[in-house]
Amino acid sequence: MKILLIGAGNMGQTYADSFIAQKVVKKENLFILEHLSEKVEQLQQKGYQQIWLTPTNEIAEMNLIILAVKPQDSHLLFDNIKNWINSSHLILSIMAGVTIDGIKKRLPTQKIVRAMPNLPAQISMGMTGFTADISVNREEIFSVQNLLNTTGKTLFFEKEEMLDAVTAVSGSGPAYIFYFMKAMMKSAMAMGFTETQSEMLVEQTFMGAVHLFNNNTFSCEEWISKVASKGGTTEAALKDFNTNLLEEKIGNGLQQALKRAIELGK
Ligand SMILES: NC(=O)c1ccc[n+]([C@@H]2O[C@H](COP(=O)([O-])OP(=O)(O)OC[C@H]3O[C@@H](n4cnc5c(N)ncnc54)[C@H](OP(=O)(O)O)[C@@H]3O)[C@@H](O)[C@H]2O)c1
Repeated sequence: MKILLIGAGNMGQTYADSFIAQKVVKKENLFILEHLSEKVEQLQQKGYQQIWLTPTNEIAEMNLIILAVKPQDSHLLFDNIKNWINSSHLILSIMAGVTIDGIKKRLPTQKIVRAMPNLPAQISMGMTGFTADISVNREEIFSVQNLLNTTGKTLFFEKEEMLDAVTAVSGSGPAYIFYFMKAMMKSAMAMGFTETQSEMLVEQTFMGAVHLFNNNTFSCEEWISKVASKGGTTEAALKDFNTNLLEEKIGNGLQQALKRAIELGK
């Protein structure tokens, strides 16, 4: 499979590096279109050879084209490449809020897969939700999923609307976790720990809790009851969280993220 990756920024390079590191794509089959000449040298140093600064006739030979530019640059990009695209091209877009219909209107192919990754993709721990136009066949969906799996886990959704919810949960999710970590670190420092000690206490607690959850079948509720004994310290904290409706507030925050994802997609 010949792949053209357009936009070698944070995400684009994450994909290129993951495909190659996991030997899912051969370097000679990976082409990169990036309009910044400074980036070319950086990419060449990483061993990428086939880098284009402008679209070429070779685009016709590509089987898959990955769109990894910022959503605000998408219109310019569509204008740049539309003359080289034909109906046999399979497109994978990771541009947040750019819908399949929106891409179909601008490019002469129906075969579009849309994915929403998240930041931990950079360390192969990403969570990606993806969907596809009805014209994309099962084999094509599997081959795209195989590529996306190099950056972590993937979930396929029949309905494109679910990608807005994926954005609200796992797309923005890492920021929620960092927010909670920051709050715990701040409290730890207020109790007299140094910054380094606070970071270590909180970071290892998050890692340990997530690994415990992953290695067992217990639900979050069951794990909470294992830590919180009646009349104990954990219960005291949880009571305060509940009195202050923390769970509802987190839910409200995610609903706001969903609302915004829907608005941005319009
Ligand atoms: N970062 C994330 O965690 C994340 C998560 C989910 C989805 N996404 C999506 O992933 C996409 C890429 O995000 P990013 O953070 O990787 O952005 P980024 O670092 O800005 O990368 C985009 C790259 O594409 C280049 N570019 C722009 N227009 C181009 C064109 N017409 N032809 C060739 N190259 C072009 C940009 O160059 P210039 O800098 O010169 O414009 C830049 O190098 C976005 O659409 C975003 O919504 C990102």
